[in-house]
Amino acid sequence: MTHYSPAKLEWRDGQPYASTFQDVYFSSDNGLLETDYVFLQGNALQSRWQTLNTPHFTIAETGFGTGLNFLSAIKLWLEVAPATAMLHYISTEKHPLSLQDLTSALALWPTLAEFSDHLLENYEKLLQGNQALDLFQNRVCLSLLVGDATTQLRQIHGAVDAWFLDGFSPAKNPDMWQTELFQQIVRLSAVGSTFATFTSAGHVRRNLAAAGFNTQKRAGFGKKREMLQGILMSKADAR
Ligand SMILES: C[S@@+](CC[C@H](N)C(=O)[O-])C[C@H]1O[C@@H](n2cnc3c(N)ncnc32)[C@H](O)[C@@H]1O
Repeated sequence: MTHYSPAKLEWRDGQPYASTFQDVYFSSDNGLLETDYVFLQGNALQSRWQTLNTPHFTIAETGFGTGLNFLSAIKLWLEVAPATAMLHYISTEKHPLSLQDLTSALALWPTLAEFSDHLLENYEKLLQGNQALDLFQNRVCLSLLVGDATTQLRQIHGAVDAWFLDGFSPAKNPDMWQTELFQQIVRLSAVGSTFATFTSAGHVRRNLAAAGFNTQKRAGFGKKREMLQGILMSKADAR
């Protein structure tokens, strides 16, 4: 049994809001479009998956939250990736939502309902331990690692193809955006791995650049001025 402190969540104008962090789970402009813009487009997933020539692809995420990024990614994956390939989605979450809050949050996205149902059915089992969940005839495998992102990433091996760096803004959640997080990211990346994040905080960009990522600023979604995305050019500085 995994022990964790659950999310403290409020509902503001029908949208989930994290009381502890004083931050939103996703843009109040449109969370679904934000996910597509920041994380899916920021990692060029559609074109990479249409031309995928490996049997699997791995995404890792900091901050599973409501699962919106996960569900949007698997929808795109099932639409465009080769039917024989498997998506491994690894996500970390320090303060999981209750099943009730998750159900309310996912009800906001009717276009994801056929995918959300699978997550909701298995959610409480997923929270009990770090077990993987196979979905859609093994085309998707979800590993939900309950705990702090850096602590959880420290314990895994393998190569991540695309990073979804979520997890509330660095100003509101400085504990997560520490130097070791970036060290774990580069340890688990290969040349060609990409990242995307809604934040354009200077220290996030500098840490990713120091780790070997070629970072690029792009217009942010909604009210956000800028976001960051990038690709790992070399692992020379990796520890
Ligand atoms: C903006 S929300 C993520 C939204 C999410 N990606 C989605 O699709 O709904 C940020 C999430 O990061 C989680 N979080 C905060 N600090 C964390 C940490 N140190 N390690 C892992 N997760 C963390 C929060 O509990 C929250 O669920």
